[in-house]
Amino acid sequence: MASAVSNLKSAKKGNDRFNQEALNWDARPFVHEASEGASKAILKKLSDLKLEPKQVLEIGCGTGILSFLIAPHVQRVVAVDAAEGMIQVLKTKLAKPGAPRNILPVAVLLEDPDDRSLPEAGDGSRQRFDLITSHLVLHHIDDLKTVLTTMLGCLAPGGRVILTDFEDFGPEAKRFHPASKMAGVERHGINAKTMEELMRKVGFREVSVTPEWSMDKKVERFEGEFGDGGMVRPELGEVMEFPFVLCYGERA
Ligand SMILES: C[S@@+](CC[C@H](N)C(=O)[O-])C[C@H]1O[C@@H](n2cnc3c(N)ncnc32)[C@H](O)[C@@H]1O
Repeated sequence: MASAVSNLKSAKKGNDRFNQEALNWDARPFVHEASEGASKAILKKLSDLKLEPKQVLEIGCGTGILSFLIAPHVQRVVAVDAAEGMIQVLKTKLAKPGAPRNILPVAVLLEDPDDRSLPEAGDGSRQRFDLITSHLVLHHIDDLKTVLTTMLGCLAPGGRVILTDFEDFGPEAKRFHPASKMAGVERHGINAKTMEELMRKVGFREVSVTPEWSMDKKVERFEGEFGDGGMVRPELGEVMEFPFVLCYGERA
């Protein structure tokens, strides 16, 4: 119960922030570049394993940048996000000509595999998925054990999770976020060893958490340099390289 309460609190902090940021989210080149890195890593992993998942769940889809990149390769992506503002932007994008027709946007803080906002399986139960993705979300989640347990419950037998986020490679990883964007940040990246242990403990099999690619990001030279809006003007900040991990696990 304690963890559910703290999860809700951290989700509220994050929600306030992400609802505010939703309308300008897609104007940031970094988020597109990061999702492209994630989609390449995810598709390569699937190809290496000769997997062709049909039903995909993306948790924390934001405005759906990664969902758009994955959708052409699968039957359907159910794209969920706790911030209603993010889902509204995704719905606007999906209404445009040429947008994929196989993305279902859902505004929900997913904490229960039987949440009624997930699509029905046909027999009154909720749909289960062949693949769950989640990109740049885990570092916003207070209780990783609970969210991983929810993910395991959302998978069909034999289903996989492929989760991507920046790596906690030490104290410098904190510089990923400017001081003004720390609301809702629960950890400064994913520690590979801790995450692997947790995924095994929750019940995933064939677990691996490995650095897969890295990306340059403009960061503050000193705390607060980017100001309240976190705006990156060309003359401010410096470039730092961040490694990204791919967290893989299977449901028995
Ligand atoms: C940093 S944004 C990343 C959005 C998107 N994946 C991207 O890379 O553009 C994190 C998103 O995760 C969502 N989020 C955080 N915790 C969540 C949860 N438990 N369930 C659903 N969405 C969540 C937030 O609302 C936010 O939109």
